[in-house]
Amino acid sequence: MPYHSWRFGPDGKCDHIPYFDGPIPPAAKVRSYPVEERFGCVFAWHDPEQGAPDYELPSVPEWDDPQWIKGEYDDLGTLPVHPQEVIDNLVDTRHFGPIHGQHLAYFDSVFDGVRGTQISGGGHETMTSEDGVLNVEATYTGPGILIARYSGETEAAQIILHTPKEDGITQVWHGILTRARTSPPSPEDLTLRDGYHAAGLSAFSQDFAIWKTKGPAFQILRVPTDGPFHRSRTWYRQFYSPRSDAADFQRRANGVHHTSGMAAAPDLQAAE
Ligand SMILES: [Fe+2]
Repeated sequence: MPYHSWRFGPDGKCDHIPYFDGPIPPAAKVRSYPVEERFGCVFAWHDPEQGAPDYELPSVPEWDDPQWIKGEYDDLGTLPVHPQEVIDNLVDTRHFGPIHGQHLAYFDSVFDGVRGTQISGGGHETMTSEDGVLNVEATYTGPGILIARYSGETEAAQIILHTPKEDGITQVWHGILTRARTSPPSPEDLTLRDGYHAAGLSAFSQDFAIWKTKGPAFQILRVPTDGPFHRSRTWYRQFYSPRSDAADFQRRANGVHHTSGMAAAPDLQAAE
């Protein structure tokens, strides 16, 4: 307790009162949460049913690879939206042109249990490979951890984290790692990383501008060629429902979902 310097252990129980040697009252305890440190972040498991974590955090081997250049996370502050509105972006095939000025060559959505993946490729003005295409595979693990991997001019990984802060308020962080072409990284590698960071942040800020001002979409008005928003919202419900219902939401969302009128990802063209 901040006023009296009582100390609490990882199990939430008070284990030291600096001015009292007697037995510590059993009621002197707080709720504790399982925590795990990964890729420069501390993740806490929040479950209203107080069960143990039932899936693994994603791994980012690039974080511990000396060939990759890390940067600081950007604390992007809060958005006045429910996290669901951020997740909608995962399947939003048709926002790439109007919001990001990007021409998509292909796009697909894949849901598998606690993971939801967007696979896309298209022209990008600053991050493309020699053939002019930026290929992106972006996967949510759980409701708020997005790891996106880019193969363009160089390999890059983007980490976007969001969590509800209070009702209707969502906190967001952003980070970029790039693979250096020499070891130690050359000045050109560092410049390229800074360029990727700026480009990633710039692209994300275009989504931010919408989220900052949009109203809640309780029901999405869509046409068949928009993208599989109904699948992503079904997938997301597993994280906001009794845990016993999660498998049913997963079953209803799982699979490869093409966007009507859009070319399928090269590796998924034969998939349903
Ligand atoms: Fe976007």
